[in-house]
Amino acid sequence: MAPSKKAGKKNTSAPSKKGGPAKVAKADWKEGFKKKTVGVTDMTLLSTITNESINENLQKRWTNGDIYTYIGSVLISVNPFRDLGIYTDEVLQRYKGKNRLEVPPHVFGIAESAYYNMNAYHENQCVIISGESGAGKTEAAKRIMQYIAAVSGGNDSSIQEIKDMVLATNPLLESFGCAKTLRNNNSSRHGKYLEIMFNDHGEPIGAQITNYLLEKGRVVGQVDNERNFHIFYQFTKSASPEQRETYGIQTPDAYAYTSMSNCLDVAGIDDTKDFDETLRAMQVIGLTDYEQAEIFRNLATILWLGNVQFSEADDGNSEIADTSVTDFVGYLMEVDPALMQKALCTRVMETQRGGRRGSVYDVPLNPAQANSGRDALAKAIYNNVFEWIVSRVNLSMKARSASASLIGILDIFGFEIFEDNSFEQLCINYVNEKLQQIFIELTLKTEQEEYVREQIKWTPIKYFNNKIVCDLIEERRPPGIFAALNDACATAHADPTAADNSFVQRLSALSSNPHFETRGSQFLVKHYAGDVMYNISGMTDKNKDVLVKDLLDVIGTSSNQFLQSLFPDRPDPNNKKRPPTAGDRIKQSAGALVENLMRAQPSYIRTIKPNQNRSATEYDVKAVLHQVKYLGLQENIRVRRAGFAYRNTFEKMVERFYLLSPATSYAGEYTWSGDAKSGCEKILADTGIAKDEWQMGMTKAFIKNPETLFALETMRDRYWHNMAARIQRAWRNYMRYREECARRIQRFWKNNKEGLEYAKIRDYSHQVLAGRKERRRFSLLSYRRFMGDYLDVNGKSALGEILTSVCGTSDHVVYSSRIQVLVSRIGRSSKPSPRFLVVTQKAVFIVALQTQGMYTMERRIMLSTIRSISMSNLRDDWLALNLGPTEEGDPFINCVFKTELVTHLLQLTSATINVLIGPTMEYTKKKEKKDNVKVIKDESILRNDLYKSHAIHVPSGEPASSLSRPPAKRKEGVVRPITQGKLLKRGGPSKPTGSAAARPKPATQPLAGKSAIAPAAKPAPHAPAAASTATSQVPPPPPSRAPVPPPPPAEPDVDMYKAKFAFEGQPGEMSLAKDDLVELVEKDDNGWWLVKKDGVEGWAPYNYLELVPRKPKPAAAPPPPPPPPPAAPRAIPAAPAPPILANPTAKPVAFPGASNGSAVPSWKKTPSSSSGTNGSSLNTTPVTSRPTSAVGGGRAPPPPVGTKPKPAPPPVGAKPGVHAPAGKPAVPTAPRPPAAGSVRAPPKLGAGGSSGGGKPGGIGGQMDLAAALAKRAQKIAEDD
Ligand SMILES: Nc1ncnc2c1ncn2[C@@H]1O[C@H](COP(=O)(O)OP(=O)(O)O)[C@@H](O)[C@H]1O
Ligand SMILES: [Mg+2]
Repeated sequence: MAPSKKAGKKNTSAPSKKGGPAKVAKADWKEGFKKKTVGVTDMTLLSTITNESINENLQKRWTNGDIYTYIGSVLISVNPFRDLGIYTDEVLQRYKGKNRLEVPPHVFGIAESAYYNMNAYHENQCVIISGESGAGKTEAAKRIMQYIAAVSGGNDSSIQEIKDMVLATNPLLESFGCAKTLRNNNSSRHGKYLEIMFNDHGEPIGAQITNYLLEKGRVVGQVDNERNFHIFYQFTKSASPEQRETYGIQTPDAYAYTSMSNCLDVAGIDDTKDFDETLRAMQVIGLTDYEQAEIFRNLATILWLGNVQFSEADDGNSEIADTSVTDFVGYLMEVDPALMQKALCTRVMETQRGGRRGSVYDVPLNPAQANSGRDALAKAIYNNVFEWIVSRVNLSMKARSASASLIGILDIFGFEIFEDNSFEQLCINYVNEKLQQIFIELTLKTEQEEYVREQIKWTPIKYFNNKIVCDLIEERRPPGIFAALNDACATAHADPTAADNSFVQRLSALSSNPHFETRGSQFLVKHYAGDVMYNISGMTDKNKDVLVKDLLDVIGTSSNQFLQSLFPDRPDPNNKKRPPTAGDRIKQSAGALVENLMRAQPSYIRTIKPNQNRSATEYDVKAVLHQVKYLGLQENIRVRRAGFAYRNTFEKMVERFYLLSPATSYAGEYTWSGDAKSGCEKILADTGIAKDEWQMGMTKAFIKNPETLFALETMRDRYWHNMAARIQRAWRNYMRYREECARRIQRFWKNNKEGLEYAKIRDYSHQVLAGRKERRRFSLLSYRRFMGDYLDVNGKSALGEILTSVCGTSDHVVYSSRIQVLVSRIGRSSKPSPRFLVVTQKAVFIVALQTQGMYTMERRIMLSTIRSISMSNLRDDWLALNLGPTEEGDPFINCVFKTELVTHLLQLTSATINVLIGPTMEYTKKKEKKDNVKVIKDESILRNDLYKSHAIHVPSGEPASSLSRPPAKRKEGVVRPITQGKLLKRGGPSKPTGSAAARPKPATQPLAGKSAIAPAAKPAPHAPAAASTATSQVPPPPPSRAPVPPPPPAEPDVDMYKAKFAFEGQPGEMSLAKDDLVELVEKDDNGWWLVKKDGVEGWAPYNYLELVPRKPKPAAAPPPPPPPPPAAPRAIPAAPAPPILANPTAKPVAFPGASNGSAVPSWKKTPSSSSGTNGSSLNTTPVTSRPTSAVGGGRAPPPPVGTKPKPAPPPVGAKPGVHAPAGKPAVPTAPRPPAAGSVRAPPKLGAGGSSGGGKPGGIGGQMDLAAALAKRAQKIAEDD
């Protein structure tokens, strides 16, 4: 401890004295230091498998406070006899949803796996808890109930009610069914099988308890230092004053039945507190006041019956010692006290002659016989009260709705060996033998047989099969112990001793059984858990277990309906069939239990008692070794080690895991057309599980290690999550792909559209020239297009901006280029000088660049003032704009693109300008002064032409009749595939690979054992939306004509909604202002609707929206808009969806014929193309997920559960109006009968068997968003 203190000090001495920033404390190595695992948590991992090594491991762990250890899925629990603090809610939560390997061994782990398996595999589960008395079975059962109640959800009040009731059965049945014994202060004196029923949401909807063999002998007597059932002490210590008054209740020392064993109080048990809890439990379970009162009345009857004493009269017959006691008993039972007294002291006998009824005699009883009759009545009343309570509890917990599956918890009395063992021990031990049979059956025998049957490679393990002991007890032919008992009872029914003797004789027939020996008045049975010597005396009587007719007749006379209802079966004296004996009943109910358990998937808890003294420190190695041995833990480990942790039929395996292989599933549907075995094999192979981890049997698949099964389960859990992610990814890819396609189409279209426009202007120029002018070769080239604004004035180039500002115009520029203007010089010949020419729709501007770098507008010529244009018939580049007389004269211009310039001017003026073409060009030089320029062919001019003193020298050009070459066929460019998104097929959409057909959608198959699923009404596309888009959709051919604008929107034929409130949406959601009108696209029932506003879709909360009532349609519809031409282009941004604009951040995609990836040269950008690239508002439908519908998050609420049906009243007679016919007699003042030995015979067999001082023998398991996205993807795919 010292080092840890030191470390603690270091940690706290961190604050620095310097006052600087607080220093971060040094990480503590102890942090996250987990409790060290002691021994092995799963004993299949033991290196040597012997009883000793098992014991050693258990001891090490127990000493360390680790009471739980696994053998595979079997939990071994060693009673700690102290509170370990391991059942808190915090611990419980740690087991929720975890598989057994993720968390340390715990009873919660078993509960979790049973609950998980029930939900996941829809199989009934049972938890079988076995072990000696006091080993911790009941505790384990309670912990399982605690766990299930905590994790099984359901906020519904009826579900909560069931949970409360199930939990309340514990204090109630413990009060009536448990007692303090020498081994256990809270020993269950009955067996209990609790079944909790669940609906298909895994919520408890009901429960049922089956009760086994209450130890009723305890009611009338107990071994020294043991007690009667808890309820007697609770009632006598804490009864209310009214109860004391009505039922004559006194303290426990006043009653023989509660005080004879000299144990009224138990350390650690607070009877008063427990009584309150019992009453509360009765309340929770819904026992009415009347029912409760009747239960307490019967308890009082029993207590007072115990105080009835018999004295021996002179003739040896018994007499009631104090009739005030019997009077009070009569009052409590509401019968005539005299009748009661007679029934207690005499017995009516009937002689039989040859099967005919003979005479009837009253035979007086001696005190011993009378005592036994009285005790029989007390035991019968208590037993029937107990059974009534169980059936009443069951009535309250009746399933509220259809139950899908159940979990059973078996907490039964443990194996018992006393010094004096009687019929009760035989029954208890027999039931334990049967349970061991199930364990062997399911973990050892069946397992091994299954390997043989399924032809699985496997090494057999030897084990002891206790079937031979079960047969010894229960066989009919040859008769086993129970059968021999029955025979003895049948033949010698009158005299118990004679019957016992007859039993001894019959037992001798069993001596050939190696597990049986007779020894005089005893017999020995070698049980799986040890040898037990049974005393024969009284066995036949106990087996007969019938209340004498006289007492039953007395009860028949009672006016108490409740008491009457406790004894519904009156033996019919004419019925020859013998009533079932106690042996018959226990055999029958054990058989039913086994059958019940075998129908469910079992989990085992094997409890071990480390000592007989309830000590938290003593570990009795010998005792534990014995338990380890008879529990067969060693064999259990061996079988587990050699065997397979999990197996299931091929059908079940396929049903559970078909999602895990693409060969067996498609989009969540089962598609395997082969048989279940091949499907199962395919799944296991495709999941990549090592081949030695599984084997295929004949009908089942076997999985070696639980880890493998858990891995499969995890994969299955992730499947839906992955699917949702895949759909999202496919959707995003599809959106990106769509965008990319749109971008390419737009670009292609823009190019073509503009190209066509340019080509049109060029064609027009041919008409203008009309073969009158020789051509330059350059102008005939195919790629020469009339693009107009060569200086990119419209495109706001630097020069363009200057020119715009100098010209002082914001008009659209139709044409701009560099030119030369003939400038006349004073005294010298005129000379061409560089200028800029800008043509707008209204005017022609000539801008000069001064030597100082200044731009000045030299001329502005309104288009309307141009009368004609003069050009030569040769190939020179000169032209004159004839304006008529002006101050400056006509501009005489040299322009490389003169034909284009002329064409534009003609277009702009609607061809009002004359184009004069001839051998000379006439223009006005200044004012009225005209000049004629001659054009002379001069082949000596190498390039272009030359102006020299009123003449232009130019070489020959192409003939005037030449036509421009048609646009060159585009070279097959490199088409870059669309690489956005992994799901898109390689090669992109331009290369249909046919691979879409390679994996056609497989047809849905019915799951093995299920009926065929009706084929979908709508034929599914051949490939999923994204794939088909990727492979089969090639860009549409350029439209042959301009698209027809969409018709004006008609009144939408859709539901319109108005926003009731403003809503600020996140990405993917639709922001709304109050009163915004939106169109409904899709209703999703998770509370979010897909709506469209201004062509944009987004999710909006439905409760923000209000339906706008539709306007009645006008009677006469307006004339319909012209129908669109049939060949209307199907542009991607189909109305009303917004155009998809190019993404500025997108990488350029090569366009056929354009090497740099941009079809429009940078120096030539039209307004539309430039705004296109700048358009940052990427108008795509949002693909973001709605944040509020997280994957797997909001689970759909469970369907409403109908109102809780009122349980029908229990089968109990109506509350009688009047009670005791006679007035209540005074509570007897008689003291409790003297202790055993004086008058009263000692309780014959304590603990239902052992007579006084019997020392115990030494041993005793965002879909909605994904679905919505998938739906949308399909819708868009269809729309497109
Ligand atoms: N897990 C446990 N933790 C602490 N104490 C236990 C535990 N299991 C059993 N005990 C103690 O042992 C006693 C006997 O256990 P119980 O479950 O009644 O035995 P059984 O039902 O097997 O006869 C309990 O009353 C309790 O005091
Ligand atoms: Mg118990």
